Amino acid sequence: MRSLVFHVEPGGALQGRARVPGDKSISHRAIMLGALADGVTEIDGFLEGADALGTLYAFRAMGVWIDGPAAGRVVIHGVGLDGLSAPDGPLDLGNSGTSMRLLAGLLAAQAFDTTLTGDASLSGRPMRRVTEPLGRMGALIETAEGGTPPLVIRGGQTLHAIEYESPVASAQVKSAILLAGLYASGRTCVKEPAESRDHTERMLTGFGWPVARTGLTSCVEGGGRLKARAIDVPADISSAAFFLVGATIAADSDLVLEHVGWNPTRTGVVEILRLMGADIEVLAEREVGGEPVADLRVRSAPLHGIDIPEALVPRAIDEFPVLFVAAACAQGRTRLTGAAELRVKESDRIQVMADGLAALGVDAQPTDDGIVIEGGPVDGGRVDSHGDHRIAMSFAVAGLRARSAIRIDDCRNVNTSFPGFAELARGLGLDLHEVSGDD
Ligand code: S3P
Repeated sequence: MRSLVFHVEPGGALQGRARVPGDKSISHRAIMLGALADGVTEIDGFLEGADALGTLYAFRAMGVWIDGPAAGRVVIHGVGLDGLSAPDGPLDLGNSGTSMRLLAGLLAAQAFDTTLTGDASLSGRPMRRVTEPLGRMGALIETAEGGTPPLVIRGGQTLHAIEYESPVASAQVKSAILLAGLYASGRTCVKEPAESRDHTERMLTGFGWPVARTGLTSCVEGGGRLKARAIDVPADISSAAFFLVGATIAADSDLVLEHVGWNPTRTGVVEILRLMGADIEVLAEREVGGEPVADLRVRSAPLHGIDIPEALVPRAIDEFPVLFVAAACAQGRTRLTGAAELRVKESDRIQVMADGLAALGVDAQPTDDGIVIEGGPVDGGRVDSHGDHRIAMSFAVAGLRARSAIRIDDCRNVNTSFPGFAELARGLGLDLHEVSGDD
């Protein structure tokens, strides 16, 4: 497949109103719980990006009848907790860590074997963080040497509940264990060092499966049933983040982002931008199907560098690439610590962002668990996204403040989380064009 390149001309302002695509985390979970529920689950606002589609195709391959997606609508004919059937071959989950880690938990409890594979990026990501605790529950999962995919999950095991204290604040780890816990005898609990996103807990509750939550611990009791329900997926705050930063750094911008997921475990990006001086108004806060939603109005504002509070890191974990662009456009120094997790995302986001910012003349020094960025002028140049969707979109937004054009290589994976990004961004005022690579 030919590679995809973004060309961004410098300058411009972001104006208007937009609804970015549906939340990736919620879309994955809606497919999973809808498939395992009794009855028909209707989803609106589903993210038709490659990652969530990978989860959808995996359940189809396991015998679940799913209509759509068509304009964000998906109808799942749930098969019940024990209704999945063995797929014909390995399940290829592409770039999606969420699919692989959550499915590892669910599939550990099935009667049949499964093999989970992924692309080059996913094949290098750590899986022991889920296979080790799942093993303690009685799961049998083989990894490649080094604890990476493919995962070979042996079916027919009897799972038992555990109380797990996770060393990382990770919703993927927490969710994998809680999903296995649905099938385990007894009460399964996960305690985290800091609160990660809680969509699994909220959605389980919505499907009629109680989750007991106290402080940083979430528990489920095995042996229940999931009841189908309607789901309205809000717009993904992680996708909105590109425009929150873009409209902040570009002069004369005034933008409203509609129906954005406003779950408090995800709002760190707005808190960090506000600490830096951003002008973001939260309008029409409401709740839709158990998830808070709001419209966000953002206007241009001068930013200043800050030491990012470590407590905000898990609540903004996917937004750091674009926050680094904000830091590059701020006055003074921004320092991030306590974010070593960024090194094991779709790419090593600390190193790849530091290299890209350096290519644009920005002083960005990577550290083991973060980065130090000196705000200043942003030049044009050529950067490599390393196939990481969020890196590609972050540098696209940097074009709003660059002194000359930016070329971004290897952008095809933008489609994993934000199909239609280039078109939407152009409509709001970014001078961005997609061209085929190798030219
Ligand atoms: C996700 C959890 C986060 C996040 C990822 C989606 C989820 O990963 O980075 O994009 O849907 O549970 P970790 O749980 O590994 O931090």
